[in-house]
Amino acid sequence: MAESTQQPMHLINPTDLQTFVTQVLIANNTPPDSAAIVAKCLVAADLRGVDTHGSNRIPSYMERIRQKALDPTATPTLRQITPVAAQIDAHNGFGFVAAHAGMARAIEMAETYGMGMVSVKHSNHFGMSAWVVKQALDAGMMSLVFTNSSPALPVWGGKEKLMGVSPIACGAPSGDPAKPFILDMAPSVAARGKIYKALRRGERIPTEWALDKEGCPTDDPAKALEGVMLPMGGPKGSALSIMMDVFSGVFSGAAFAGHVTNPYDPSKPADVGHFLVAIKPDLFMTMEEFKERMDYLYKRVVESDKMAGVDRIYFPGEIEILMEQTRLAEGIPFAEAEVAGLNKEADLVNVEHLKVMQ
Ligand SMILES: NC(=O)c1ccc[n+]([C@@H]2O[C@H](COP(=O)([O-])OP(=O)(O)OC[C@H]3O[C@@H](n4cnc5c(N)ncnc54)[C@H](O)[C@@H]3O)[C@@H](O)[C@H]2O)c1
Repeated sequence: MAESTQQPMHLINPTDLQTFVTQVLIANNTPPDSAAIVAKCLVAADLRGVDTHGSNRIPSYMERIRQKALDPTATPTLRQITPVAAQIDAHNGFGFVAAHAGMARAIEMAETYGMGMVSVKHSNHFGMSAWVVKQALDAGMMSLVFTNSSPALPVWGGKEKLMGVSPIACGAPSGDPAKPFILDMAPSVAARGKIYKALRRGERIPTEWALDKEGCPTDDPAKALEGVMLPMGGPKGSALSIMMDVFSGVFSGAAFAGHVTNPYDPSKPADVGHFLVAIKPDLFMTMEEFKERMDYLYKRVVESDKMAGVDRIYFPGEIEILMEQTRLAEGIPFAEAEVAGLNKEADLVNVEHLKVMQ
């Protein structure tokens, strides 16, 4: 990576952060129940080290509320289609609130019928997918969590932004609640949020992440945002992104094929779609057997022979769980400009500034 101009960092207590984010949301007309869900999901991302999809998104989300591109008061409505399939209309409210309601319903169906599927339309960005996977894990469920997103990625062979950097996420519980399987990955070399984060922090980016608008590799986050993200694994990453659009966009009735609005664009509703499935792990064997098999898989993975230069092998999601433990104990690091950005939002609605630990 090219040299960065690092800013001073501050540590924030997670509880103080959640209180602050909730207050800013409520002051921007978000009902307290919805504000609590959104704040919990954003702080969950900060705790897991997914800083790109945490509380720093508040200024862009609040701008969408101010410009009436997102309705914070919307209540998702649910239509039961079959015993195992339901559809949610998010009515242009927070994606967090609609996806939370969707996964809650999918879990209820799975408890009775073994699996439940919920399709969500007319929604907004729901941040880090892993929080929805975690919602299912907390109920003892396996899950699939798909969403589509605004154009950022060319299809393989193309050069225009068409598909979203739409994350693919899924999870399964294991015997040790601290070692579940949680996959949550964008189909690009890096999530676009990592470029916004580098821009906020005045850092350079690796040249493999994106092309500028002339189609050349760049380490400048501003130029990368004018250009395109690069798919991981060439045509395979691009196909996974199309897959997210088929299941979340085409299937749900939400926008698709490059018509979802960017969460940083406050000019119009986003019409994001989500696809959520909860599955009971003990459908084909006892829960005890399933968990034993997951524990065995975990052990086989992390105890596998290491390649040269590797000290430790991690299970998917494990790095984020370890980060969460550290940040719960020590606080969450924020760059000075990020704290200032959040406090600017607080000033606009007369909320007290964010407390910093150091
Ligand atoms: N809502 C949206 O529209 C949207 C769009 C893009 C990204 N996102 C979010 O951005 C976040 C970041 O995505 P990303 O693709 O940059 O994630 P990432 O590359 O940091 O991680 C992807 C996956 O790889 C695993 N992993 C990473 N390093 C590992 C290692 N050394 N060993 C074993 N496993 C490892 C992680 O646990 C994770 O499951 C995700 O939470 C995603 O949901 C959201």
